[in-house]
Amino acid sequence: MADQKEKVVLAYSGGLDTSICIKWLQEEKNLDVIAVVGEVGQEHSGLESVKEKALRTGAIECYVVDMREDFVNDNLVRALAANALYENEYPLLSALSRPTISKSLVDIAHKHGATYVAHGCTGKGNDQVRFEASIAMLDPSLKVIAPVREWEFKTRPEEMEWAEAHGVEVPTTKATPYSIDDNLWGRAIECGVLEDPWNEPPADIYTMTVAPEDAPDAPEYIEVSFKAGVPCALDGKEMSYIDIIYQLNEVAGRNGYGRLDIVENRLVGVKSRECYEQPAALSLITAHKALESLCLEREVLHYKLGVEQQWATCVYYGQWFAPLKQALDAFLAHTQQCVTGDVRLKFYKGTCVVVGRRSPYSLYSYELATYDREDEFDHEAAKGFIELNTLSAKVWAQNRMQRNGTIEG
Ligand code: ARG
Repeated sequence: MADQKEKVVLAYSGGLDTSICIKWLQEEKNLDVIAVVGEVGQEHSGLESVKEKALRTGAIECYVVDMREDFVNDNLVRALAANALYENEYPLLSALSRPTISKSLVDIAHKHGATYVAHGCTGKGNDQVRFEASIAMLDPSLKVIAPVREWEFKTRPEEMEWAEAHGVEVPTTKATPYSIDDNLWGRAIECGVLEDPWNEPPADIYTMTVAPEDAPDAPEYIEVSFKAGVPCALDGKEMSYIDIIYQLNEVAGRNGYGRLDIVENRLVGVKSRECYEQPAALSLITAHKALESLCLEREVLHYKLGVEQQWATCVYYGQWFAPLKQALDAFLAHTQQCVTGDVRLKFYKGTCVVVGRRSPYSLYSYELATYDREDEFDHEAAKGFIELNTLSAKVWAQNRMQRNGTIEG
């Protein structure tokens, strides 16, 4: 009886790199390859044809898995609760999809009794860390292979040559000079001319957003409703979170809102110039923050800002399943109970501003805030408050003055 080959489950996109991975894993590692194509809301022209290609290239099996519900209802619910922005700017699109994809890879590896899981990430990026950290936490006994990190090709022409020699279909269309990753939460574009941070991004890198200068001359309003921190309606019409994301990508995108051009710090120590377009993500974070400012008690809101930053860093670093990230999730979930209400957004030529917010849990009190006759704030109480609130530093200042004649230095 012929020896049964060991199996590897490969995260497959249909691109040149992961197609070569299929052949390479067979030929260099003598493994049976099971390909997994994840539907996470990326731009594509049919995942069934990607599956066909995997099988033609030699995979013994190929799964097309619709991961959108999991991705949205688990990962994007938490990301919004955290108003997640890595380094205060980047809404984490790739970092958020990797845990979902990893979970599916591990499940399929178990189903087939596979020994290995493989991904097509390079040795320079964050995504390799995210896949491998997630897989290690979900099943520490699975071994990971990263062919792109191991193989000898340095350039795309070298890859093409190997592909042709080994019967891997090479793309007929001219390859874009960019490296792109996308899903429901947006699109990341890197490489090519973008590698010089002084170069303005060429107009054609963007596909979800129009240039702000080309956006309509009239503003567009939309009302986003939330229930316990989760988007639940647009303009009063109840919708699933996933449909809200699809629709807001359209609305914000056609108004030129959602582009980012930043230099970010990768986990592997490299600074990288990244362009993103995340129209729905950034609109929802803007709206969600506005509602929180109405509903969260001051000390919770202040403390939460630090938790948000820590959460985004954990997720960027691939720590989705790690205990710190889980503990932060518990805090964040608790804060969302009262984040229910509506926010009115106004889009106009590349901007998105909050022009209205309301909530049954609103802590805003007209009687306390107003400068009009209805004022109920106790002005007398302010005097004693300031006295005691300042007392400790005042004692310190008196002591300094006595000793140094000044409080400075
Ligand atoms: N820099 C982003 C991140 O680490 C995006 C990476 C996207 N990957 C890509 N192949 N373009 O999350």
